[in-house]
Parts: sequence; structure tokens; C-alpha cells
Amino acid sequence: SLPKTTTIIEVGPRDGLQNEARNVNTEDKLDFIRALQEAGLQEMELTSFVSPKWVPQMADARDIIAGVKRAGRQMVLTPNERGITSALEAGADAIAVFVGVSNSFNEKNINKTTAQSMEALKPLIEKVKRDGVFVRACISTAFHCPFEGKVDPRDTVELCRQFVDWGVDELSVADTIGLADPQESHELFSRLKEQFPDVLIAAHFHDTRRMALANAYAALLAGVDRFDASAGGLGGCPFAPGATGNVATEDLVHMFHHMGVDTGVDLEKLYEAISLIEPHVSNPLQTGMYTLYKNR
Ligand code: HMG
Ligand code: MG
Repeated sequence: SLPKTTTIIEVGPRDGLQNEARNVNTEDKLDFIRALQEAGLQEMELTSFVSPKWVPQMADARDIIAGVKRAGRQMVLTPNERGITSALEAGADAIAVFVGVSNSFNEKNINKTTAQSMEALKPLIEKVKRDGVFVRACISTAFHCPFEGKVDPRDTVELCRQFVDWGVDELSVADTIGLADPQESHELFSRLKEQFPDVLIAAHFHDTRRMALANAYAALLAGVDRFDASAGGLGGCPFAPGATGNVATEDLVHMFHHMGVDTGVDLEKLYEAISLIEPHVSNPLQTGMYTLYKNR
């Protein structure tokens, strides 16, 4: 049977805007984030502390954290010690580290092999866990890699196991290029739920081939009750060729509510949040529910 509630982790301000061709002003981002909080999104990836040379769109990370009210769990993506220190100094509630199962992708994204990344992350995670900080580990290319093809699910599970051993609170397991199908989703998330019953597990689907909602449903059936999503379906990783936006928050929320699974999100307020950011992004937003909202 389905859970009564699920949690949506809004990643639009981070995954959504990191890949945006236009330069979005800090104030416009902050209006968007505040409206998302108003809509009931209690957990969010606000921004990332990454190299501004690699991802100029996130260069205002410090101002973003300073500008939002502390409500729920506000997370910040960080690739290294410098990022973690800056994020915590700026007042982030929680950090999200990220690594790719596939070496080729990880090298393109973080300029290290997967093993080098893990070696560097271990002491950093152990330290912040001693300080009681919430740590989320984002696992990229958990299903498919844009350079190496199909990823062996055993490699994904083993990478997750290391993070669990180091004490992370949450695994966010990602289909970076939107190529996984519902069967793959069900299989991997069933395994992860079985192997790691004591950590939070979130599913992070990109919707490149329009399978993200089906994948989310398959993950729900596998016992997952946390889902990353991006308002308006914005997003994509600049270092994953062909990757497009995340599953749209409004489509996911609508689907869950229709099935009687509550998310705590107010859809009308969510549409208002999306209409705040829409004029500032380069492409018209074309998600199912947002299109219906605009045409009504
Ligand atoms: P590097 O060039 O190997 O390392 O980059 P570096 O140490 O030489 O740093 C380069 C420059 O960045 C230096 O500046 C550093 O000081 C600076 P310079 O001396 O040249 O003026 N720097 C920093 N600045 C601010 N904050 C920092 C920081 N660290 C170094 N934390 C590095 C290595 C990891 C920094 C780089 O590769 C990088 O920033 N990568 C981030 C890539 C990224 O943000 N990707 C998107 C997020 S992941 C994602 O979207 C996937 C996810 O959604 C799940 C999924 O869908 O798969 C999570
Ligand atoms: Mg992503």
C-alpha cells in the first residue's frame, strides 16, 4: 500500500538555476525561494558553493543563504572542504556532497576520479557529522552515465554503502541524464531500501525522456517517500551532456495528491512561485500542470 505522506525536496533554486543560460539576479532567486517556502516546501537545496569558474550561476551562494528565512531544512551543495566551510559559516542547515558512480562523469563534474572524491570526502563527512550537521550525499549517474553507458547497480549500492558507513543522514540517488526506466527505478530503490533501512533515501529524477513521473511512482512502490523535484521542471547538470530538467514539482505534487498521498505543498501557491521565476529564465516552462494553470 502507498504511504500517506511523502516529502518533496525542492531543488529548483540549485539544480534548476545552475544550468540556466541567463544570469538570474539574486533578488529574483530570493523571491522565488521565499515563494516556494510559502507554498509549503520545507526542504530545499538553496544553492551551491562551487567554483564560480565552473558554475557562474551559483556565485551568489552567500547572499542566497543570508537572504532566506530559516524554515525547515535548507541544504547547500558543496564539493570540497572549502565549500563545506563556507556553507556552514554562511549559516546553511545542512550540506549536500555529490559524487558520480561513474568515473568519467565525476572527472567532468568535479575534476577527480570517483575514488579520489571519496578519499577526500571521508574525513570531511566524519568531521561535520561529529559536529552534528545534517549530511546528504547525492549520488550521480546511479543508473546511466552519459560517457560510460549503463552503470552496474552493484557499484551504486557499494558507493552508497560507504556514505552510510561514514554516517550520512540521507542518500539522494540520481538519474542524472533521465534515462532510467520504471523497472530500473523499482529494482535499484528496492535494493537500497532493503540494504539501508536506517538512512533517508530520496529519489532524484531528471525528466529528459519523460519517464520521471513513472520512475517516481516505481520508487514509491519500492518504499521511497522522499523525492527531489524542481519547480517548473527547471534544471540539469552543466557537465552531463544532454541532461535536462528535474521532474517538475507541480507534476509530482499533483500526481501524489491525486493518489491520496499528501505532500504538504499548496499547488496554487506553487504555481505563483513558478510564475515569479518564469520571466527570468531562458525557455518557456512546459510542464503538464503549469501549462494547465496558465491556460485556465
Ligand atoms: P578544480 O579546478 O579541480 O579545483 O575544480 P581548484 O581547487 O583548482 O579550484 C578551481 C577554482 O575554484 C579556484 O579558484 C578555487 O579557489 C575555486 P582560482 O584559484 O582559480 O581563482 N574553488 C572554489 N570556489 C568557491 N567555492 C568552492 C571552491 N572550490 C574551489 N567550494 C571543483 C574542482 C570541485 C571546485 C570544481 O570542479 C567545481 O566547482 N565543480 C562543481 C560542479 C557542479 O557544481 N556541478 C553541478 C552540481 S552536481 C549535479 O548537478 C548533480 C546532482 O543534481 C545529481 C544528479 O542529477 O546527478 C546533484
Ligand atoms: Mg540533478
